[in-house]
Amino acid sequence: MTDSVKLNAAGKDLDLKVLSGSVGPDVIDIRKLYAQTGMFTYDPGFTSTASCDSAITYIDGDEGVLLHRGYPIGQLAEKSSFMEVCHLLLNGELPTKDELDKFSYTISRHTMLHEQLATFYRGFRRDAHPMAIMCGVVGALSAFYQDSADITDPQQRMIASHRLIAKMPTIAAMAYKYSIGQPFMSPKNNLSYTGNFLQMTFGVPAEEYVVNPVVEKAMDRIFILHADHEQNASTSTVRLAGSSGANPFACIAAGIACLWGPAHGGANEAALNMLREIGTVDRIPEYIARAKDKNDPFRLMGFGHRVYKNYDPRATVMQQTVREVLGELGVTDPVFDVAIALEEMALSDPYFIEKKLFPNVDFYSGVILSAIGFPTTMFTALFALARTVGWVAQWNEMISDPEQKIGRPRQLYTGPTQRDFVPLADRK
Ligand code: CMC
Repeated sequence: MTDSVKLNAAGKDLDLKVLSGSVGPDVIDIRKLYAQTGMFTYDPGFTSTASCDSAITYIDGDEGVLLHRGYPIGQLAEKSSFMEVCHLLLNGELPTKDELDKFSYTISRHTMLHEQLATFYRGFRRDAHPMAIMCGVVGALSAFYQDSADITDPQQRMIASHRLIAKMPTIAAMAYKYSIGQPFMSPKNNLSYTGNFLQMTFGVPAEEYVVNPVVEKAMDRIFILHADHEQNASTSTVRLAGSSGANPFACIAAGIACLWGPAHGGANEAALNMLREIGTVDRIPEYIARAKDKNDPFRLMGFGHRVYKNYDPRATVMQQTVREVLGELGVTDPVFDVAIALEEMALSDPYFIEKKLFPNVDFYSGVILSAIGFPTTMFTALFALARTVGWVAQWNEMISDPEQKIGRPRQLYTGPTQRDFVPLADRK
């Protein structure tokens, strides 16, 4: 470990301080660089930039490690519940039994939506993508819950966080119900967080919905696997939006918008569509060849990651969960055989080996979600539901930091230099 690094820039010798975290790469502190040299650093896509310090989630992409507050994701997925993980991410520690009961009770008290929001849904087309509805409805929460909008008050921040975690299943389930023309189902607080979500999604008023415990467990695990992931694109979006002091619900709506893209949360939908399009194992080589062809924009969806240059630890758990769910539901989906064979072929292909491209969390999640009964368009909405806790935990951490500043990157300007205005009549 070094204390500083030397840089000769603009004719000056600088000693730039090196900062160390509790684990992981050190960072070079360049905060004074512009003041001292008149130069910026250049890092489009932030491939070498740490945008903040954080004590929530740690990833070692080379080793395939993901820790939340120090706990490995595999242990959390196997041994805890999504509510425990929410408490862990938000408050820093796993809850005691009493704390968990209190936390789950608090969340359950916020599951309902303001009745007027049901009218808001009716403004959307029936065929609207659930992510379009999620962006709109979550943004609209800012107009309904104004008593938790003072971000300088830690208690109001926590109430806004609880509201968001609690209301997302209701919002996502309503988006689904609206798309299929069924009545909205009210939350039932005697069910678990995840059981209630399944009830609101698949239940109908005419019948008592019975939660299948295997499906409930699998869904809860999927939520755990998506709960947080360090400074990814949507989390960075939430932080950037929040850094201006914006309303918390609006910040989360910004995160949802970012998550929607196929390079990020939209990949689960794209991955299943791709597997269905491939259809049979014999067609895989054709798609692998396309993914390798630089003149073809096609990529293997659910493959590759900015940080993981090893197997995504979430994909390992996801693959086990597929087997459990398909077994329980008695579903034989040929798409799972295609996924297994595609993974095997890609991982023995020099292109994927050299570029260190492995299956990510989105590769198998679609197979499970489809077996449970979700249409592909709902997949990213489920990701948003689960990631909400990560977003609010990261947002809270940022706002609580006394040194927090508005996020304001600079640029390398390549446009025209100053020139005089030409009146319309004189323009050629
Ligand atoms: N199929 C084929 N080639 C790929 C793929 C892929 N899925 N991913 C990356 N590559 C190639 C890419 O063409 C590039 O090649 P070259 O060096 O010759 O130009 C090299 O690998 C590095 O890729 P990159 O795009 O520079 O890497 P990145 O870190 O900017 O992108 C990624 C990461 C996740 C956007 C990308 O791997 C990708 O588009 N994957 C498919 C979409 C996907 O599954 N996204 C979900 C990510 S995990 C869930 C989440 O966090 O949201």
